[in-house]
Amino acid sequence: MAMVETAAAAPLGLLAELTHRCPLRCPYCSNPLELSRASSELEAATWGRIFHEAAELGVLQVHLSGGEPTARRDLPDILRHAFTAGLYTNLITSGVLTDAARFEALVAAGLDHVQLSVQDAEPGSADRIGGLAGGHAKKLAFAEMVRASGLPLTLNAVVHRQNLERLPDLIELALTLGAGRLEVAHVQYYGWGFRNRAALLPTRAQLEAATATVQEARARLKGRLVIDYVVPDYYAQRPKPCMGGWGRQFIAVSPTGRALPCHAAEGLSGFDFPDLRVTSLRDAWEHSEAFNRFRGTAWMPEPCRGCDRAEQDWGGCRCQAFALTGDAAATDPACALSPNHGLLDLAVREASAATDAFSYREMGRLTTAVAK
Ligand code: SF4
Ligand code: FES
Repeated sequence: MAMVETAAAAPLGLLAELTHRCPLRCPYCSNPLELSRASSELEAATWGRIFHEAAELGVLQVHLSGGEPTARRDLPDILRHAFTAGLYTNLITSGVLTDAARFEALVAAGLDHVQLSVQDAEPGSADRIGGLAGGHAKKLAFAEMVRASGLPLTLNAVVHRQNLERLPDLIELALTLGAGRLEVAHVQYYGWGFRNRAALLPTRAQLEAATATVQEARARLKGRLVIDYVVPDYYAQRPKPCMGGWGRQFIAVSPTGRALPCHAAEGLSGFDFPDLRVTSLRDAWEHSEAFNRFRGTAWMPEPCRGCDRAEQDWGGCRCQAFALTGDAAATDPACALSPNHGLLDLAVREASAATDAFSYREMGRLTTAVAK
């Protein structure tokens, strides 16, 4: 494939996926189906070099994620590197591995913000979805530690057919835990989520009810709780501008040091993502074929080519296009103008006839959960 070089502004944020290890097994995990082993993870010093290169490139924030980032015993060292690079640090965590002493070490290393995920507001359902008995209770205890520390807390709730009816309770939970922000994110259907789509996809009525709930809560809780809302586009007429456009605002680094234009990009075939063990972050961002392939609009096929929304949604999501059509360069089928838009109706029909049984995320194998 020809390499197209396009002037690239600096990315705003860097997602550092420190590990794929995780005690939870959520069926919609955004990690790739092929999970990396601990033995191939980047060492703390290399993360330090990447953070300094990121700051030089203009990155302001680093999101320390996984898997579960606290599964790394050297997380305080990694955090300290981010702090000395001058980056604002956000820890994206399930909260189930962190006791008071470990949390104190993270705060001392320069942690700025915590984003805690919950699987549901009802403990039994939350533990079933996360695949970890007692996990929800540990999350609540962790949230209390964050509150006591005074650090800002964002609660992240991934929602789908099996927990959407408790969205009002999730909003209440965010208030109870002292979160200043709640991210209500519908499952995105690629990778593990795509594999479990029939068990998780909401009905149109559920989606509309959730959207109304969010709108009502935003108005009622103005000044107390900010609510971000990410919708699934299976009922949309136009796609979302995924990642703000490929290679425009966002860069992720995998546990093994691959630079990625989106956290799910390792699931795409036919790419050679830059290896940051041997390539600088700037070189990866500005010059690599992988980052330039879908940057801008020159790569677009019909009907995106010439469409007046091309610089608004950037053709939608490459990972969703690949999951649904097998071609990452296709127009996102979420667009009603795509010749593949009918695939979404098919998926909705398939989901309406499916049970709630799903496969947990596992290293190297799949296990099936018992339906509720
Ligand atoms: Fe967006 Fe392409 Fe659809 Fe136009 S045709 S709205 S650019 S996805
Ligand atoms: Fe990869 Fe949308 S999730 S481009």
